[in-house]
Amino acid sequence: MSDHVTTRNLHPVIGTEALGYSMTRHLDPQKIDAIKQLWLSHPVLIFRNQDISDSEHIEFARHFGEVELHPSISHRASNNPEIYRVSNVDETGQILPQQSNEWLYINLSWRWHTDSSFRQVPSKGSILHGIEVLPTGGDTLFANMYIAYEELDDKLKNKITGLTVTHSHDHILSLSNNLHRRQNRGEYTKLPPVAHPLVRIHPETGKPSLFLSPHTMTGIVQLPGQQGITLLDTLIAHATQDRFVYHHRWQPHDVVMWDNRCTMHAVTPFDNQTQRRIMHRTTIVGDEAPIAA
Ligand code: SIN
Repeated sequence: MSDHVTTRNLHPVIGTEALGYSMTRHLDPQKIDAIKQLWLSHPVLIFRNQDISDSEHIEFARHFGEVELHPSISHRASNNPEIYRVSNVDETGQILPQQSNEWLYINLSWRWHTDSSFRQVPSKGSILHGIEVLPTGGDTLFANMYIAYEELDDKLKNKITGLTVTHSHDHILSLSNNLHRRQNRGEYTKLPPVAHPLVRIHPETGKPSLFLSPHTMTGIVQLPGQQGITLLDTLIAHATQDRFVYHHRWQPHDVVMWDNRCTMHAVTPFDNQTQRRIMHRTTIVGDEAPIAA
């Protein structure tokens, strides 16, 4: 492992390749501190060629905080429950049966979201290991929510400051027509709805960003139903313009680490009935509830 770490920007405002790290070796505290610092100024970091085991993945994640257990119990890896299997392939290597609860749930990661926005204390960041990736489709899009906020006009900034959004894990399930209609939708840790500021301050950088997570947002507390939804839709359309979004095309054993406090992401569709995509994610517990701007 070289001690010299260099970076390469892959998009003007988000997505940076970090060269010179190997997660399969012991990373000394200085190296971890260097990643922490780099991550604060580059909220989506890409590490190439990291053929790590799940244990190495979890060990790396623990340098940044406690690791969450995902509410969807069947998507946790059976030997390492801290691993959330964002995969259309089961642990025996078979593509999940079409229309199974697990298959339908994982398809919902194709929608824009911020990990664990359904928690009172949402996740700080996530680390995703691409184990089986596709030549086309199944890419991950990342939006820079600092810049998306910064580029709103002042009138809209004033309008949204102080507003609060309700988020619910159950809302994710309601977005799948098939899953929604079922009595048995799978086994999930029960989580009550929560409310979060629409504009949040990053606890470490002090910068404001938009806090959107379309797959959990049910409305704006201070606005009547449809008015709140329309405003959220306008903000989502604004934040997901190409100029704010890095498009990550996966190579085998890429590890991507993103800051959930200032980004959102989505997977691009692929033929998930015939093509295999296996991704393992750790999700780092946040330090505190989001701070309103
Ligand atoms: C996720 O939604 O957290 C995973 C993204 C991906 O599978 O690329």
